[in-house]
Amino acid sequence: MNKITVVGAGNVGATLAQRIAEKELAREVVLVDIVEGIPQGKGLDQWQSSPIEGFDTRIVGANDYGPSAGSDIFVVTAGIARKPGMSRDDLVKTNTEIVKSVSQQIRDCSPDSTVIVVSNPLDVMCWVAKKVTGFPRERVIGMAGVLDTARYRSFLALEIGVSVEDIQAMVLGGHGDSMVPLVSYTTVSGIPVTQLINRKRLDEIVERTRKGGAEIVGHLKTGSAYYAPSAAAVQMVESIVRDKKRILPCAAWLEGEYGLRGLYLGVPCKLGSGGLEQIIEVELSSKEQVALNKSAEQVRATMESVSL
Ligand code: NAI
Ligand code: 2OP
Repeated sequence: MNKITVVGAGNVGATLAQRIAEKELAREVVLVDIVEGIPQGKGLDQWQSSPIEGFDTRIVGANDYGPSAGSDIFVVTAGIARKPGMSRDDLVKTNTEIVKSVSQQIRDCSPDSTVIVVSNPLDVMCWVAKKVTGFPRERVIGMAGVLDTARYRSFLALEIGVSVEDIQAMVLGGHGDSMVPLVSYTTVSGIPVTQLINRKRLDEIVERTRKGGAEIVGHLKTGSAYYAPSAAAVQMVESIVRDKKRILPCAAWLEGEYGLRGLYLGVPCKLGSGGLEQIIEVELSSKEQVALNKSAEQVRATMESVSL
């Protein structure tokens, strides 16, 4: 993989750029931000860590898209983040304008690229990016489910007292309080989680997962989470760059899958060199399907507040 551009050199974007470089997922990482000096300074600082960390990926910062022309992947983290008391939907007006202008630049400078959206409200920002770039759904994917699932897995590992690596799970739906952790598909090395933890405690963990983003905002007060979000986005980037064909919960444009169409929602996706290569339809219990439909309604309501 040649070049990856990260748009937005804030908390998520800068951490993401460093993680991509440390894993040598590209020959070059371009960090783009509108604030003069910030992407250049952070990019140079990160590049100077390369002799210590032992990576050859070149990181450069810019305030325009010249250096990112011909990028294979864009990760869009530009936008404002939540403060205490704000929901992700409170960001919609400002971030729509930002994601619109970023998407125009991506379309013009790298028409063959794949876009991974991170900016919130996630599912709606993916729609903005898809509409403005005009790219097919294979090349506009959103990051949320990997993060929400990582939170769920980490809480479960702590509760059960086992390695996080042995928790297999998937959180679907929109990236909001209506997200749908799939308890029926949650296992610990293949053992159904319901055999290892009582239902009441499991429900509490599901609820903590739904509010996982707000819990971090409550601690930080000046912004939202970025270590786990950047790690989640990098897992998606890696699956595409290395054509790993991992099945990860990502926001994808639905065209009838799960009985839904015309919106982005978190569903199991196969990611490889073709971007979104397949949406996997798993059987859901009627309770889970109802919860997914409710989550879709919430995403649609936010979409209706946006004029494109
Ligand atoms: P931040 O405030 O630290 O960084 C945002 C950066 O975007 C700033 O440096 C800002 O100058 C830049 N920016 C603003 N307009 C721009 C434009 N037109 N072009 C290029 N850069 C521009 O915020 P943070 O914490 O990095 O979060 C970024 C976004 O990601 C927020 O919307 C946040 O809600 C979202 N987020 C989404 C997650 C998810 O699971 N999908 C997880 C974590 C954050
Ligand atoms: C999160 O879940 C803010 O959406 C971001 O942490």
